[in-house]
Amino acid sequence: MIGKLNHVAIAVPDLKAGTAVYRDTLGARVSAPADMPEHGVTTVFVELPNTKIELLHPLGENSPIAKFLEKNPNGGIHHVCYEVEDINVAAKRMTDEGARVLGDIKIGAHNKPVLFLHPKDFCGTLVELEQA
Ligand code: CO
Repeated sequence: MIGKLNHVAIAVPDLKAGTAVYRDTLGARVSAPADMPEHGVTTVFVELPNTKIELLHPLGENSPIAKFLEKNPNGGIHHVCYEVEDINVAAKRMTDEGARVLGDIKIGAHNKPVLFLHPKDFCGTLVELEQA
């Protein structure tokens, strides 16, 4: 069912420093920071030839990544995002398979429908599915 790896999201405690690592040390093309208040994050996109890395930094109170950074003060991989053809079909399949879908289908950072899956059901990794 899952298709391409759309992105890997990395939570960072210092967005400027994280951006510099990818831009200057690793020599990648990076975007300007973009505030996404409805998602509680500021994002920098790292463009790779075959996928993207998204650097996530908390924005505002109640950021969904604040707790993760408390537990991982140096930052770390927050989730991986796989593409699916139809988010509703994917959601039903996950429920039928007994996997826990976290919350409802939402519009994600790329203006496409997404859902999140519980890490305990997916090898310890938070999984995002995005309708491509
Ligand atoms: Co994501």
